[in-house]
Amino acid sequence: MEIHKIALLTSGGDAPGMNAAIRAVVRSAIYHHLEVVGVLKGYQGLIDANFVSLQLESVSNIIGRGGTILKTARCAEFFEKEGRKKAVEQLKKNRIDGLIVIGGNGSFRGAHLLAIEHNFPVIGVPGTIDNDIMGTDFSIGSDTAVNTALEAIDKIRDTVSSMERIFVVEVMGRKEGYIALRVGLGGGAEDVLIPQTEYDIERMCEDIKRGRKRGKVSWIIIVSEGVAGSKDVASLIEDITGFETRSITLGHIQRGGSPTAMDRILASRLGAEAVNALLKGESDKMTGISGEEVKLVDFISACAQERKKKNRLDREIYGLVRILAT
Ligand code: F6P
Repeated sequence: MEIHKIALLTSGGDAPGMNAAIRAVVRSAIYHHLEVVGVLKGYQGLIDANFVSLQLESVSNIIGRGGTILKTARCAEFFEKEGRKKAVEQLKKNRIDGLIVIGGNGSFRGAHLLAIEHNFPVIGVPGTIDNDIMGTDFSIGSDTAVNTALEAIDKIRDTVSSMERIFVVEVMGRKEGYIALRVGLGGGAEDVLIPQTEYDIERMCEDIKRGRKRGKVSWIIIVSEGVAGSKDVASLIEDITGFETRSITLGHIQRGGSPTAMDRILASRLGAEAVNALLKGESDKMTGISGEEVKLVDFISACAQERKKKNRLDREIYGLVRILAT
């Protein structure tokens, strides 16, 4: 099928750099003489035909802005067969020949089903702060989120060391410990609790007690939201050690702000490649990065090797956090 007109949407949790990806898709599509339609509010906007025409100037001055100008949402209806049928009907009615979805794992599950059930060309661009998508070294937004959390941790350390306290900091990342581990290493945390490694709070409390005896006064412990809430971990530590422990949940600030250079460059490359992929007749795939190379990856490829590689790296970083904290 020849591609003349494409639609573009952002879906799931917003991530810094999504706007840079939108800009790249729009500008490279127009460069290739394609018409571009923006879908507002994710898959729901597809079902409701909430479309806007996008021109070169529609994406001016957005490369450095957080959030997504197309808005985003999590849409339960699209995960029903009937919802996807409605969506494809709207695409066809509006003479749209291909769809680009910027989002995370959940969004790609929906994109995959749309592509295979209706034989409709769909290409994904990985955008999530969690960096939990197999098949790409990085997803758009994850570098910015780590930097944002790191900035917060540097500030927390000022009060932690001044008041000689233990502080538990909860970061986002769903079931993946990507943000927690990078922030733990980059922020000089004493310990990190992530879902991928075994954690033992009793052992950690013994370390704290031993450390206090030899004169170590302050601790920062990073906990990934996939493990437990920061409040629960803090009160457990306080109960076991008897030392004053505070907690903070960094929450959605990790999703906002201007994207880092790395995220802008990644978004620009992956967005432009998504357009190239549609033009080459590809579908049911996402763009990804491996080292310096941009590549295409099947939505459903199990990527067992990628998972192993990420697990190995997680264990290595975790080990280093512990060594450097002693
Ligand atoms: O997937 C991105 C993310 O920010 C996760 O890290 C977090 O678990 C989730 O979204 C929060 O979702 P919501 O904004 O719907 O509360």
